Amino acid sequence: MVPAAEIMSDPKDQARPIDLRPAWRLADPRIERDAELFWQRERLLPAKADVTARLADVCMAAYDGDSLVGLTEARVRPIDFLRCKLAMFRCAVAREARVRKIASRLTVESRDLIEAWSRENPGEEVLGLGCVVQSRKLAENDRWAVWPDTKLAFIGYTAEGYQMRVYWFAHAKISPYWPGPPRGEDS
Ligand SMILES: CC(C)(COP(=O)(O)OP(=O)(O)OC[C@H]1O[C@@H](n2cnc3c(N)ncnc32)[C@H](O)[C@@H]1OP(=O)(O)O)[C@@H](O)C(=O)NCCC(=O)NCCS
Repeated sequence: MVPAAEIMSDPKDQARPIDLRPAWRLADPRIERDAELFWQRERLLPAKADVTARLADVCMAAYDGDSLVGLTEARVRPIDFLRCKLAMFRCAVAREARVRKIASRLTVESRDLIEAWSRENPGEEVLGLGCVVQSRKLAENDRWAVWPDTKLAFIGYTAEGYQMRVYWFAHAKISPYWPGPPRGEDS
């Protein structure tokens, strides 16, 4: 039997509830300040990073008390081989806060936030949420073709060999593109 003291000392039992705060297109000064400090602390800003552009991508923040422990970003990009625009998604969680489902919760909530924004802004023509899986642990441990929580579906590999996944928004309609003249149909 596990002694009670050991159960109580499990950091997951002592964890405070994590508060998810939307930030997409809000330019919230508190979240922007905390995001920049988070990137520096977690060494997530490459030397040449354009901080202003990265701040414009901030989508949602996870707070443990006053401390920002998780952040999502999305950048709208044309994806040539899909002939549409996707919100390309990134997520990071502070080292000390990992494996507590913060990334999973943040991804689901961010996905729904951007889907609602896309529905309300049809002129932006964003058809889904896309991501390139750059975490080896995720690629090795989460091998579902469709991730159960986030519903991000595997669609292939990038030229560098990373998995690419997409969640298509419910209101999305793809391009009517057809390669050349119709075959065996009246024109
Ligand atoms: C990848 C990252 C965001 C995961 O954050 P997290 O809050 O620890 O993830 P969660 O607790 O929500 O776990 C989500 C899934 O990831 C997998 N996972 C995450 N970290 C893992 C680890 N250290 N070992 C094993 N599996 C892990 C789990 O399989 C989990 O799947 P489950 O739903 O079946 O349990 C975090 O490790 C991170 O910030 N890494 C650095 C930046 C990065 O690589 N971002 C991802 C780019 S795609």
